Amino acid sequence: MQPTTANAASPLMSDTETKVPALPPLLDPTIATLLEHSPGRVMELVEQFGSPLNIVWPHILHKNLHAMRSVLQAHGVEHQIFYAIKVNKSQSLVHAAVDAGLGVDASSLYEFRDALRAGAKPEQICGTGPAKPDAFIADLVSRGALISIDSVEELAVLESLLSDYRDNWPIRVTLRYRPSASLQSRFGMTANDLEHCLRKLSTQKAAFQFEGFHFHLGGYRPAPRAEALCELVDWVDTARALGLSPRMVDIGGGIPIRYVESDSYDAFIASHHDGHYRNATTPTSFYPYGGRMDAQKWLSLFLASPCRDGQNIADYLKQENLVLGLEPGRSLVDQTAVTAFRITRVKALGENDYVLFVEGSSFSACETWFNSEFLQDPIHLPCGLAGANDDKPCRAYIAGHSCLDEDVITNRFLPFQSRPQTGDLIVYANTAGYQMDLLENEFHRVPMPNRIAVNSDLTTVVLDDLSGEAE
Ligand SMILES: Cc1ncc(COP(=O)(O)O)c(C=O)c1O
Repeated sequence: MQPTTANAASPLMSDTETKVPALPPLLDPTIATLLEHSPGRVMELVEQFGSPLNIVWPHILHKNLHAMRSVLQAHGVEHQIFYAIKVNKSQSLVHAAVDAGLGVDASSLYEFRDALRAGAKPEQICGTGPAKPDAFIADLVSRGALISIDSVEELAVLESLLSDYRDNWPIRVTLRYRPSASLQSRFGMTANDLEHCLRKLSTQKAAFQFEGFHFHLGGYRPAPRAEALCELVDWVDTARALGLSPRMVDIGGGIPIRYVESDSYDAFIASHHDGHYRNATTPTSFYPYGGRMDAQKWLSLFLASPCRDGQNIADYLKQENLVLGLEPGRSLVDQTAVTAFRITRVKALGENDYVLFVEGSSFSACETWFNSEFLQDPIHLPCGLAGANDDKPCRAYIAGHSCLDEDVITNRFLPFQSRPQTGDLIVYANTAGYQMDLLENEFHRVPMPNRIAVNSDLTTVVLDDLSGEAE
């Protein structure tokens, strides 16, 4: 029962159609050791908790945090990190973030409640989200959380609540800015709206405590964020001229992570073609799975970007006594989880091509629903039944259990060194960042997959369930 990467190059594959460059996943050493030395333990856990099984190592979040903080500290920048709780429904990851002293970015009433349940102090939570329901706003106000106001209309709702919540004055707010890099976005405010809100806040200082500006951009490049922060420099001055005291600029999330080694990734992208996909379609858009930027490099580049009067961003923030707010999701949960699928049927498509049906669905590994692919090789753990796996190389794509033809975990044909069998496991690494549970549902009335939180040597295994408790 030795683990292999599904795409490990095989000398027997002479057909150019099947010669796909390997994309082995990067693995945290804890996880690599488990998969390499104790695959039977993973089998036991799937036996016990079902397939697919999400396995979470919360302690790895602390490593990611440490790496980010070391850059921020090296630049001497005051910072406040809010864990973007939307990235995963694991409550143990929220606990890990809170235990490490992080704040939480909550985009719904339910995320807010789960953050509180994990022990987050309300004043360390920021409520984001573009169209907060009244009940969410009311809860944020009554608990003294920070509220990122997305629009003139949202400020009006807050103003309408002022008399009911007099005991909770001042209500702590930031204003969400719409950077010039995303003018078509419906999120955040244009210059006119921002000015309108600043003026409103400046006339209601007893009721509102204006704490600064916020933005979040799609994509993962540091440059548009650096530009957006520079665009806010004049707005910080405007706010101060109005007698307000901004203390923070919160740049949202979007710090990238790496799933596969960069050279393999570049080689893959350069050589894959329609013949490598069961639908004969090479997807055109991917997350930068093998990008050359990790969180540390990204933060260094961002902080060193030019800002005002020859100063870089780090110097500007320090000079203006501004705190850098960050809302990392994916980058904080890098490497914290894997998802194991049990193969339920292996169906031949041709001499050497197969479809592997797994217990689980593409709703637990969601990129194909975005016309893309989760581009990394899964790890194949044979179940070890005597004689079950012949060593004939083959290629296979992976499908979910449902009746939807589109329910595929990968459209890509993956080369396998030995033909997978019913009962084998397919393990996807690094699934915590949106992969495992963004689209998760109970289609066909199949219960939600289980999630367990484990410690580094798997001596502690606890259910990390959706009711919000790590038991
Ligand atoms: C407002 C806001 N903050 C933070 C995040 C987290 O982004 P990421 O997981 O890319 O760090 C998101 C993601 O959509 C967001 O919308």
